[in-house]
Amino acid sequence: MADFPSIRPRRLRNSPAMRRLVAETRLHPAELILPLFVREGISEPVPVSSMPGVLQHTRDTLRKAAVEAVEAGVGGLMLFGVPEVQDAVGSEGTNPDGILQRAIRDVVAEVGDQVVIMSDLCLDEYTDHGHCGVLAADGSVDNDATLERYAEMARVQADAGVHLVGPSGMMDGQIGVVRAALDAAGHQDVGILAYTAKYASAFYGPFREAVGSSLKGDRKTYQQDPANARESLRELELDLAEGADLVMVKPAMAYLDVLRQIADASPVPVAAYQVSGEYAMVEAAAANGWIDRERMIMETLTSIRRAGAGQILTYWAVEAARMLAR
Ligand code: PBG
Repeated sequence: MADFPSIRPRRLRNSPAMRRLVAETRLHPAELILPLFVREGISEPVPVSSMPGVLQHTRDTLRKAAVEAVEAGVGGLMLFGVPEVQDAVGSEGTNPDGILQRAIRDVVAEVGDQVVIMSDLCLDEYTDHGHCGVLAADGSVDNDATLERYAEMARVQADAGVHLVGPSGMMDGQIGVVRAALDAAGHQDVGILAYTAKYASAFYGPFREAVGSSLKGDRKTYQQDPANARESLRELELDLAEGADLVMVKPAMAYLDVLRQIADASPVPVAAYQVSGEYAMVEAAAANGWIDRERMIMETLTSIRRAGAGQILTYWAVEAARMLAR
């Protein structure tokens, strides 16, 4: 039987050319999606201190950032709105002239024929209590009342011209309700990127600053328990049955096992979201000189791809796209 010393796996690793030839996983800018924040009522972009390099954009700088992303070859943009006013039901989320809807119009007009424009469909940026839905009298998040708000959000975002809506609130039935609302409004061609397996994660910490979230407490009654993998497959089944066009796992790196299971089971494209805390950890370690930043970025993205993601949402999308081109 062939064995050492004739069998030597290192032969496939011994030159850059050989490693390039046999690499199983490749990244391409087209599969990277850049999350972008647009804030109402500011005249200059505002840096997000917990996410060095990430900005809350004005409408004007958002357009420029979108063009820059397209020029780098990025495949998609995911827009998040930061309104000036928050209230109990998140009224600005369904205002046709709300900041996100205006930003969708701007970006679609600017680059909408070159890149897929997506929008976050969730209330947490818009509510004064910071939850992803509206509250019942006892303070709990009211699933079915929230669905009515999501249906209206879907309509105004689609009216603004978005290509894919991204329901991220983890309400039961949200994909079906959003699909029905889009269809009833004549938006059959607007798709749904479903946040399918979304965990109640500490990795979202820096994002809360990025969107000015007012949340006290946690989202554990609607987002999934990090201890569980099985229910992600159930969420997948339901989202598919309700009409999801793409599905997503989030966060990415701490949930690569879940990503692999979803990727193996899903007949539709599977995305993963490398979230704010994943970004912040690497940036903080790099700022301390503890890691090689660029290698770390590419290694994390490659791992997410290897675990089965077809598309990756990452705050490094533009930079990674540029690295891939050189
Ligand atoms: C909800 C939403 C969140 C993120 C994306 N959509 C926050 C949350 O669920 O608490 C987090 C993204 C990130 O951390 O980068 N609108």
